[in-house]
Amino acid sequence: MILVTGGAGYIGSHCVLSLLKKGEEVVVFDSLDTGHIETIETLKQFGKLKFVKGNLQNLSDILNVFKNNEITSVVHFAAFSQVGESVRDPQKYYYNNVFGSLNLLKAMLEYNVKKIVFSSTAATYGEPDYTPIDEKHPQNPINPYGNTKLMIEKILDDYDKAYGLKSIRLRYFNVAGADRDCAVGEWHDPETHLIPNILKSTFSGGKPFEMYGDDYDTRDGTCVRDYINVEDLVAAHLLALDYLNNGGGTNYFNLGTNDGNTVKEVFACCERVTGEKIPVNIKPRRAGDPVVLVADNTKAKKELGWSPEKNIEQSILTAYKWEEKLNSRLS
Ligand SMILES: NC(=O)c1ccc[n+]([C@@H]2O[C@H](COP(=O)([O-])OP(=O)(O)OC[C@H]3O[C@@H](n4cnc5c(N)ncnc54)[C@H](O)[C@@H]3O)[C@@H](O)[C@H]2O)c1
Repeated sequence: MILVTGGAGYIGSHCVLSLLKKGEEVVVFDSLDTGHIETIETLKQFGKLKFVKGNLQNLSDILNVFKNNEITSVVHFAAFSQVGESVRDPQKYYYNNVFGSLNLLKAMLEYNVKKIVFSSTAATYGEPDYTPIDEKHPQNPINPYGNTKLMIEKILDDYDKAYGLKSIRLRYFNVAGADRDCAVGEWHDPETHLIPNILKSTFSGGKPFEMYGDDYDTRDGTCVRDYINVEDLVAAHLLALDYLNNGGGTNYFNLGTNDGNTVKEVFACCERVTGEKIPVNIKPRRAGDPVVLVADNTKAKKELGWSPEKNIEQSILTAYKWEEKLNSRLS
């Protein structure tokens, strides 16, 4: 049985869906802080899924999951992930992400489970020295959220050396899109990600989209990011589990496309996909936004056999279909 922490959230739910479709038995452990019980109800239709509501900050909650289930490996998504909030309230992030992960690892060691796939982030690299960013790029996070993820990466290295716990750390760039059938999708409140925020402006009552900075030194003055489709991203997690099951050791990979889009290109693509003229306000630059963040994904291609297949337009199309569904559900 595979334990998925944070499986009621955006990326975790897509991973659970893929695992269930593959015939795996899954236990989702989630506090529902930012995840949704409706997502779990939907996922239950796809296979053998058990849901446990609990918080990684409570050691007994997670110990009980290992006590009551035959867990063989873990995919660990559960975390808080809003950069701005992490700057305002770092304690919330260190307790949840670092302390919560330590509890998970303690339970794993106690029950002799030694394989984990961990959601890391491009935010561990900080302000890039060069792009595309490969895995050799120095990791110097510039906010508490990035610090928590780097700390967990280091903890995982030490736990391998001391206890033989094998981990794959996947460093995501900007995750986008929804499941092809829109069974699950991105559902954050507040939403901080670019594509859903542009799309939300197309619905009645939606506020104009706020674009931060159009005077950067890029092809159209707006920041460049690497948008990786959520189904492609999740495929790498399944490959990472195979890698560990086949005796692969601790490793880390960037998950991105080797290519970037500017904010204005993404905005234009959203207008094309929706067929709408989307209201926009250009605002001054935001502090702490790197100009260009693009992944070099060569290592994941070579060592995991992973290859992203979907382009930005396909991500925006599924994200839009999902937003329509969410909008009608919530209104
Ligand atoms: N979305 C992105 O673009 C992106 C980019 C890089 C990294 N990541 C990482 O990927 C992971 C998933 O991100 P997401 O966008 O799906 O976030 P999300 O907020 O949608 O999902 C996180 C899930 O974890 C649960 N959770 C949080 N703290 C918990 C705790 N202490 N105990 C149990 N459950 C807890 C939440 O309730 C939620 O269901 C996170 O670790 C995030 O840092 C995301």
